[in-house]
Amino acid sequence: MTLKHLAGASCAAIILALGFSAWAAKPAGEPWRDARLSPDRRADLLLDRMTLDDQIALLHGHMAVLMKSRPPGLIQSAGWVPGQPKYGIPAQSESDASLGVANAGRGDGDDATPLPSGLALASTFSPELAYEGGAMIGKEARQKGFNVLLSGGANLARDPRNGRDFEYLGEDPLLGGKLDAASIRGIQSNHIVSTAKHYALNDQETGRQILSAEIDEAALRESDLLEFKIAIEGGHPGSVMCSYNRLHGTYACENPFLLTDVLKHDWGYPGYVMSDWGAVHSLAAAKAGLDQESGQEIDKQVFFDAPLKAAAKDGEIPARQVRQMAHRVLRSLFAEGLYDHPLAPGGLDTRADSLVSGKVAEQGIVLLKNEGGVLPLAASGGRIAVIGGHADVGVISGGGSSQVIPKGSFKLPPPKGSPGWGGGIVFHPSSPMKAMQARAKGQVEYTDGTDPAAAAALAKGADVAIVFATQWNSEGVDGPLQLTGGQDALIEAVAAANPHTIVVLETGNPVLMPWLDKVQGVLEAWYPGALGGEAIAKVLYGDVDASGRLPISFPKSEDQLPRPELPGLKNALPEGTTTAQPEPPFDVHYTEGSDVGYRWYAAKGMTPLFPFGYGLSYTAFRYGGLKAAGGKGLSVSFTLTNTGKRAGIETPQLYLASGPHRTQQRLLAFARVPLKPGESRTVTLTADPLLLADWDEAGHRWKRDAGRYQLFVGKSAGAAELKGGATLTAETMAP
Ligand code: BGC
Repeated sequence: MTLKHLAGASCAAIILALGFSAWAAKPAGEPWRDARLSPDRRADLLLDRMTLDDQIALLHGHMAVLMKSRPPGLIQSAGWVPGQPKYGIPAQSESDASLGVANAGRGDGDDATPLPSGLALASTFSPELAYEGGAMIGKEARQKGFNVLLSGGANLARDPRNGRDFEYLGEDPLLGGKLDAASIRGIQSNHIVSTAKHYALNDQETGRQILSAEIDEAALRESDLLEFKIAIEGGHPGSVMCSYNRLHGTYACENPFLLTDVLKHDWGYPGYVMSDWGAVHSLAAAKAGLDQESGQEIDKQVFFDAPLKAAAKDGEIPARQVRQMAHRVLRSLFAEGLYDHPLAPGGLDTRADSLVSGKVAEQGIVLLKNEGGVLPLAASGGRIAVIGGHADVGVISGGGSSQVIPKGSFKLPPPKGSPGWGGGIVFHPSSPMKAMQARAKGQVEYTDGTDPAAAAALAKGADVAIVFATQWNSEGVDGPLQLTGGQDALIEAVAAANPHTIVVLETGNPVLMPWLDKVQGVLEAWYPGALGGEAIAKVLYGDVDASGRLPISFPKSEDQLPRPELPGLKNALPEGTTTAQPEPPFDVHYTEGSDVGYRWYAAKGMTPLFPFGYGLSYTAFRYGGLKAAGGKGLSVSFTLTNTGKRAGIETPQLYLASGPHRTQQRLLAFARVPLKPGESRTVTLTADPLLLADWDEAGHRWKRDAGRYQLFVGKSAGAAELKGGATLTAETMAP
């Protein structure tokens, strides 16, 4: 339209014409940019503009290190999905981040703050600390240029030998689910997507790509899936990662039951499912409910590119399904703020961030034995022999894709037969020995423990001997329960030389303790992260109370486990090794069903070495006056008193002991209660309703029977302090 055309037209017509011409020049604006609209609406508006190719481009991502041509500035990390600037869609810049922003492979110049291991975090029983830790790594991720974190590991610790237990949150669905939800919320408070993983039943590393998990539906819903349900419904992660293994013969990433029926339908999950790296085997994955293929370079084909397009064109996969897959990805980018808050890297301050990590470590260290009150160490001095564990340089960490290597770390080559990736055995630069020397008034002397006789000689002349025992665990390989490298013999030798021997364990998992009766003290420090050495020293000297509680049972021997021999050891080759013959797939029968960990011990009437929930404090607590209220819901209240002379933190736990028809133990609620000396508090614990219900397969719902429920409040799954009961009504709950 020109001025000539406008001559002689009425005013209204001119206004209309001008208006129309403005509209015609910018056909419909870009309405999806309006942040007042819901994420779903914005995704729909944007999808209306996108071609099939544009949509498909959202559905498969690269493994940066294997890309043939890398765009300039691309950070080497787990994954990358290109952005689409014409629509304002940011690139999805993905990093592993289970325990901090992973950086193996980016060279020594890269820095990041490692959190303590997942089991250390779970030992705090503190959703608040989980949130703080998540918020810290989410912040660092943005500062380092990432907006999608592959963080939110929530596989149930069915086996204490699982090489990745250190990335997860223990053996209880309620504890793990609540902490995972809090950590996801913390991460996503930074306008970042967090990823709950590995969905589901990747509960051992041996043969993880070939094994088939065998478990009945009710047991599955009440265990592994329950943890994910609590994590996902409480945390709202933008993404969920499906796992490598199969369930009843079907790969998790091609499994309609897991991805569509349960996750998307029953739980109404609105985000997207991404695959684990190399976990897509065919287009069946798209039909089953996978939305995004990750690490496409390591799959046999990029199934979610040309093959998906061809399937959409010939109707094998309806085009509207491709649109829905893209919708889920876009929805999360809008919902979590990635679209509206572009990355602006810079400003990393690992020193400040380490304080968060240190807090988790201090509160997650578990005091397992303290005979004769050998701990806390006397502040007055004396001679202390520190032995082994590279305590002079740092604290050990776990290997694999989650590995964080802060500047100044000390590295050893990985043991033979273990996966080569991940940077070897990494010690975070926080030396317990140096932290003790800074704190001690007396002498702290060190020997590396390679010579048990020399260690015993040093111990003999000391007032106290502290042996640091380390156990490296890693993704891709399951570990033995025995301490390796002659450390049991070292402890025995030191304990024989000095009656005041304390063992500090830095392990990814429970370990066996054949020397337990011979030592006076044991601390489980897990992998304690950036300020782990300082945290260990603080607990040893009693600057803080020993307040961690075990999130996983410690067995007396393999014979106590549901599967004394780890399945598949004969079938599966160590990750990274190749063979001309593909390994035969094998089944893992989870016959313990939902009786995982402490529930297994209770069901079998066995006593573990240390039960779930266990941990000593430097003070003492009295429990009294239990009142239980039933009806529709269940809550108990009781009085908790610190009867000792020091401030301390107690973690009372509410357990179901039996329902109307059967004996069955379950953690129903927990709290973390700080108390000054002499202080009393009334504590109220309310059971999560889901945990009192069973899965009703026929009715496809949760069902609680009416009747009498027996309960106990205790210091651990094995130590009831107060017993009671309540009568509850019958209830049903949506799946
Ligand atoms: C792991 C995932 C990880 C991915 C990308 C896989 O080996 O199982 O947890 O996110 O690699 O690094």
